[in-house]
Amino acid sequence: MGHPDDPAIVLLEHPQQSPDFWRDLCVALVKAGRQVVRIAHGEASSALKRRGTDAYTTETLRAILSQLPMRPVLLAAGDHAAAAISAVSQDGALLATGLVLITPDIHPATEIATILESLPALIITTAQGASPHGIAHVAMGVPHAEAVEIGAGEPLTAAECLDAFSAVLIDFLERRLPRSTPEYRLGSDARTLRDALGCFATGVTILTARDSAGQPVGLTANSFTSVSLDPPLLLACIARSSASSEVFRSSAHFAVNVLHIGQQPASIRFSRRDEDRFGATPWEPGLNGTPVLTGSLATFECARHDVHEGGDHIILMGQVERARFEPRRDPLLYFRGKYRRLHFS
Ligand SMILES: Cc1cc2nc3c(=O)[nH]c(=O)nc-3n(C[C@H](O)[C@H](O)[C@H](O)COP(=O)(O)O)c2cc1C
Repeated sequence: MGHPDDPAIVLLEHPQQSPDFWRDLCVALVKAGRQVVRIAHGEASSALKRRGTDAYTTETLRAILSQLPMRPVLLAAGDHAAAAISAVSQDGALLATGLVLITPDIHPATEIATILESLPALIITTAQGASPHGIAHVAMGVPHAEAVEIGAGEPLTAAECLDAFSAVLIDFLERRLPRSTPEYRLGSDARTLRDALGCFATGVTILTARDSAGQPVGLTANSFTSVSLDPPLLLACIARSSASSEVFRSSAHFAVNVLHIGQQPASIRFSRRDEDRFGATPWEPGLNGTPVLTGSLATFECARHDVHEGGDHIILMGQVERARFEPRRDPLLYFRGKYRRLHFS
């Protein structure tokens, strides 16, 4: 689960927590930018397990870890903890980047202090299953290890317990094993720059105009920005490579149609080649005959005010001659390369 480029965390799930707990923890980790490899209790064949128990063998775990494309954080619960500790006890830093133990059930004599010294480690215990063999106290004395007890005060509901677990875990991961944030530098990969710009959530518009033969033209654009109230100015940026850029550069009038959530099909249509953009989309002639998409969230009918060169785009500035809007619809949104909808009412 999660994006293959995100740092990985291997979960050795244990039935001491419910299947819902593990599923929801995975969702929280993926949201926090981690890639989760789930190994459910009882999933591997019994041949891979320690004889007579349900716990994994050290060899199995070392094999799993060494086959992953990146070194993960290893999270083990209950009696999987012993195998996890022993799997990373030799060359641990070559196999894993960190170790998280949830209410570990291990023998008190287990020599974990030296292991915890070589890897960032977190031990989470619950008030109910608190530190069965005092492992949390061992962690206290080790500089790289942290121990947290959850639910020491009031008893927690399942949801509160999950929230507390994920908060502690994600805080540990962010502090001790931070994700590397992608970086664009002038002259480097333009894709990274596009991804960075895609973090700015926008609405979606369709720009419309008529070409010199009077035919309607239009394209999907999210580079729309208000510029000035007095005079009333707005702008949009159009790629010089787009088929309609020259029409917008020379047309005396154009319209910006702000799309509502139901107009996603129109947005897709006006962003693809070889589509009958106006044939399949209801529209009507507006001021000066400029095509206006019927029932849009808002329309701004403009006289061309200015056109600036902006690298591989033109910056088309318009003076608003008429604006109309529909107050009862939700906008179509665009964020990180995907269409989105509002969460809030
Ligand atoms: C959500 C979204 C936003 C877009 N925003 C812009 C934009 O601001 N400027 C632009 O030139 N192209 C933008 N595009 C791409 C154009 O819609 C697309 O290249 C279209 O095919 C151009 O049409 P044309 O070549 O017929 O002019 C966007 C596409 C999508 C899906």
